[in-house]
Amino acid sequence: MKVINTNSYDKMSLMAAEAIKQQLTMKPDSILGLATGSSPIGCYAKLVEWYNEKQISFKHAKTVNLDEYWGLAPENNQSYRFFMEKHLFNLVDINPENTNLPNGLADDYDQECARYEALIDSLGGMDLLILGIGHNGHIGFNEPDTCFHNIVHREKLKDSTIKANSRLFDNIEDVPTHAITMGIGTIMRANKIILLAGEGKEEAIHKATTGPISAVVPASVLQLHRNVTIITSF
Ligand code: F6R
Repeated sequence: MKVINTNSYDKMSLMAAEAIKQQLTMKPDSILGLATGSSPIGCYAKLVEWYNEKQISFKHAKTVNLDEYWGLAPENNQSYRFFMEKHLFNLVDINPENTNLPNGLADDYDQECARYEALIDSLGGMDLLILGIGHNGHIGFNEPDTCFHNIVHREKLKDSTIKANSRLFDNIEDVPTHAITMGIGTIMRANKIILLAGEGKEEAIHKATTGPISAVVPASVLQLHRNVTIITSF
């Protein structure tokens, strides 16, 4: 596990974007695992800049996002599908059919979780996965718990997560209470992981990197992954 403290959001974003660029140069048909949230926005902006300068192409790439709110339609401007289209998919040459997120409106969430896990498997797994981290150490929406969840599942969001995410909603009541998320096992099966941690995540990173491996701090499981780089803006 490598930790790089950059002391700058721009530097963190640049380093992450460089890793994605390198991945796409090495293997244009890479499977990229992607996160939403404040942490990767700068990285996606850099990728869009390089795409406009013809330095990179997503033509052959496929993406799988970590998670999606349960109960939100893709066109809802708070959905993670909407976020990804706004910050990346609509701004580069990726084929929309090659972009994947869980369906937050599926009738049967168990079936949808099984479909999404099988989809990731059928793509051959993720070459590179970008993660953020919650204040409580969550990765994807794997919240602190008594055990690790292996595969894609529906998760009830902790009050602290709902509160943190309410900054992007008009009212806290509008924040969905559940999400469909890759499981810890799904995440750990990625070949390479880059975790981005912005301001305010110092304690979560400290616990994840130096504390015991425990489902109470879900990101601590990354200590067992053979190719993880944590890049912080602090
Ligand atoms: C988002 C996700 C979450 C976020 C985390 C940090 O797809 O899976 O785990 O990465 O909540 O969010 P930000 O970056 O907004 O602080």
